[in-house]
Amino acid sequence: MKHDTVEKNVGIMIILIIVAISFGTLVELVPLMFSKQSNEPIAGLKPLPALELEGRDIYIREGCNNCHSQMIRPLRAETERYGHYSVAGEFVYDHPFLWGSKRTGPDLARVGQRYSDDWHRAHMYNPRDVVPESNMPAFPWLFDQEVNGARTGAKMAALAKVGVPYTPEDIAGAEEAVAGKKEIDALIAYLQQLGTLLQARR
Ligand code: HEC
Repeated sequence: MKHDTVEKNVGIMIILIIVAISFGTLVELVPLMFSKQSNEPIAGLKPLPALELEGRDIYIREGCNNCHSQMIRPLRAETERYGHYSVAGEFVYDHPFLWGSKRTGPDLARVGQRYSDDWHRAHMYNPRDVVPESNMPAFPWLFDQEVNGARTGAKMAALAKVGVPYTPEDIAGAEEAVAGKKEIDALIAYLQQLGTLLQARR
């Protein structure tokens, strides 16, 4: 009889559904917030230096993350191709995360040190020069534009507020650290450190 009342009263039904879903969500999420495995940086993880931080912003601006994920799943096919699967502790200083799920191109989570800087320069200037069948767009303007360091320090200060351990010296020296650098240098510096703390495929 009680069940009848619930089924016939949409208001009560909605409230009970919300309670049930919230409970399920909390059970899944809350333990993760306190688990060391998911919120402690892995050994050796450091905040990105100024040039690499700007490189990451260029990566986002150019939409690289629309075609490339940065998340290796713990499946044989993925670890054989890309290296050690991604672990949460690699991403604790990432704001926002760039995991993604759309892979028009390969995953880039461990692309760091896989190619030389020269390879990346050639590839970014015109992907077809090094990978003839590539349908990745060319990014020639990165070779002309200089990194704008006016806000690099402010970006670091904002990240420091959400727990990224930048020091006052990092923040004070940020603008100078990127002065005169081309955007391509920043982007490649960012790519070359991606995922290098754990074993990549070689
Ligand atoms: C329209 C989709 C698309 C966009 C946008 C794109 N890429 Fe790619 N990318 C690809 C494809 C497809 C490949 C595989 C062919 C090749 O190597 O060129 C690739 C390959 C790569 C590789 C080589 C990876 C490997 O393991 O061999 C790197 C590095 C890379 N892209 C970086 C970038 C960066 C940095 C950007 C942004 C500036 C970017 N891509 C934007 C599609 C894209």
